[in-house]
Amino acid sequence: MRVVNELTATQTPRGSHGTFDVERIREDFPVLKQQVHGKPLVYLDNAATSQKPQVVIDTITQYYLTVNSNVHRGVHFLSEQATQAYEGARDKVRRFLNAPHTREIIFVRGSTEGINLVAQSYGRTFLKEGDEIIISAMEHHSNIVPWQILCEQIGARLRVIPINDNGEVLLDEYKKLLGERTKLVSVVHVSNVLGTINPVKPIIEMAHSRGVPVLLDGAQAAPHLPVDVQDLDCDFYVFSGHKLFGPTGIGVLYGKAHLLETMPPYQGGGDMIRAVTFEKTLYNVPPYKFEAGTPHIEGVIGLGAAIDYLSGIELERIAAYERELLVYATEVLSSIPGLRMIGTAKEKASVLSFVLDHVHAHDIGTILDQEGVAIRAGHHCAMPLMQRFGVPATARASLAFYNTRTEIGMLVRAIYKVKELFD
Ligand code: ALA
Repeated sequence: MRVVNELTATQTPRGSHGTFDVERIREDFPVLKQQVHGKPLVYLDNAATSQKPQVVIDTITQYYLTVNSNVHRGVHFLSEQATQAYEGARDKVRRFLNAPHTREIIFVRGSTEGINLVAQSYGRTFLKEGDEIIISAMEHHSNIVPWQILCEQIGARLRVIPINDNGEVLLDEYKKLLGERTKLVSVVHVSNVLGTINPVKPIIEMAHSRGVPVLLDGAQAAPHLPVDVQDLDCDFYVFSGHKLFGPTGIGVLYGKAHLLETMPPYQGGGDMIRAVTFEKTLYNVPPYKFEAGTPHIEGVIGLGAAIDYLSGIELERIAAYERELLVYATEVLSSIPGLRMIGTAKEKASVLSFVLDHVHAHDIGTILDQEGVAIRAGHHCAMPLMQRFGVPATARASLAFYNTRTEIGMLVRAIYKVKELFD
């Protein structure tokens, strides 16, 4: 796609050279420049969804202005351009994850759909009554419910790795759970509530020593850490575009080729077939076997632009900057009397969940909003984890690389305002 490729090639991120210049990077994100309730916006809800750089917005606009056409179907110019851009984005994702082959990159709606795909396609084919699936106590509902549905369908059983009070998985307990019946392990890479970076390499190694495949839910990891699926040796990896500074409604499932080849389609429709008769259908090869129907073309192309943008800054630099910001934010938040951090793992990324004495999380969220500070309050789609910590909900500030120490200061000031109102 001529115009879109030129656009993404020429608009490099402002922070891409020399030192990490957060003020210049912020210039790339138009939404951050506004005021809400008469106060400068402090956007600290990045774990729910992150903001989009101008280049992603422009790439999608250019796609509709100059290229819009269906992929893999047309023989005309625009369709070829759209197909090139779509498949080009697949290769960007492949490089982003360091996956060996583009056929291992499947476009889905998001992490949730990726996990459901594996549960229904791999799970229903290769698991049977009495088999066990291991998850952890810190999973998002999207890495619990698809497995529960599968368990109900086939009579399998869900086992849960417990965590300690810091929010770290207990590897010894995991070892005990791994047994003859274990047929799949599916754990979160970075927790959306606790920020814990899980020890996924030992988790994978221990599963593999028993021949058990592992899925990693990377929704909260991919925007913050470099991910190398070959180094991790995970069998499946999922992430969502909208948390990665790209569009909503698009995400990625990476799967090892030899597994994808043996898995049946998840949905039937156009593009996932080689030949159809009323008697029998021959399926296409991966990844197309798993991409039925017209895909989210502008979502895929926009995701490609987001990946280019991030690669321009480099995930290693993003991770280092966010680490410093997290340490600073943890220090200042922890010093607020009556505030308790939920999630104090040694290895953490970008998330600060907390509760405040005598104040419900939703009240914190509402008052902070009046101060221009956007956070999330609630159970964060992780109700079992709330039960584990004995709280109904938490307030959660989640960081991205465009956040600053000044914004952390504004968060702290707003929390003191909450305390004034409730004390
Ligand atoms: N899973 C997203 C969050 O944690 C929506 O907020």
